Amino acid sequence: MSDALLSTRGLSVRYGATVALHGADLSVARAGVSALLGANGAGKSSTLKAIAGLVPAGGVVRFDGQDISRWDNRRRYRAGIVYVPEGREIVPDLSVAENLLLGGYFASGRERATRRDMVLAFFPEIASRLHSPAGLMSGGEQQMLAIGRALMSGPRLLLLDEPSLGLAPQLVVRVFERLAAIQREQSLSALLVEQSFPMAARLADHAWFMRHGEITGEFTGDEMRSGGARERATSAYLGAHVPAEAHATD
Ligand SMILES: Nc1ncnc2c1ncn2[C@@H]1O[C@H](COP(=O)(O)OP(=O)(O)OP(=O)(O)O)[C@@H](O)[C@H]1O
Ligand SMILES: [Mg+2]
Repeated sequence: MSDALLSTRGLSVRYGATVALHGADLSVARAGVSALLGANGAGKSSTLKAIAGLVPAGGVVRFDGQDISRWDNRRRYRAGIVYVPEGREIVPDLSVAENLLLGGYFASGRERATRRDMVLAFFPEIASRLHSPAGLMSGGEQQMLAIGRALMSGPRLLLLDEPSLGLAPQLVVRVFERLAAIQREQSLSALLVEQSFPMAARLADHAWFMRHGEITGEFTGDEMRSGGARERATSAYLGAHVPAEAHATD
């Protein structure tokens, strides 16, 4: 994809003798949302961490036209590649405001204030809790804070690791609606890990299916939202190869 913001070639991750990712070729369009789907242990988090530079990886990662394969995680973060971990990992004893401040650590005072206003406008739930300890908020509010903290750094590519994990369906819908609005307004690119096919279909314009560290299928957003997509997704989970259909509109 020539207009890709991010692309990988032969991206691979191993932990000792365990190969978690066997050479993935992925790309995320500018202002696009792609999803990675797959069962537990498929290698989804490892893929995001490899892109963020948080685990050693083989293969090539290109971001905004540059080969960043040798960049460490901090350099990638400062270039705008921001990983939002599974299970949120906010700092529970710090207040909501302090957690947001951590995300804006490298920003100037003025940028920080502007971004904070934007985050609080997107997530009024956390705006009213600014001075309470983050750990006392509900799971959904903590997820909003985790996304808000990532936005404070001025990201260009959000790597969202299961933002719906442990949330009630109603809250998941709310978090995803906000994500869709943020993505529209900020022209952000995102690579999203999800176990829920319908949730991924709400946001993504492209999806890959993973199984045992391999990409086993690929869908466009339209294909994800079309009839029969779930069945084809299921066979991708089960290991059958599902080729992406050629698309007239692109
Ligand atoms: N730090 C680690 N050390 C050793 N093995 C690991 C490590 N992290 C992950 N693995 C293994 O690598 C494989 C892929 O793990 P990964 O966390 O990428 O999967 P996942 O698709 O994100 O799963 P889940 O949906 O459960 O989060 C698994 O077999 C896992 O046990
Ligand atoms: Mg994971």
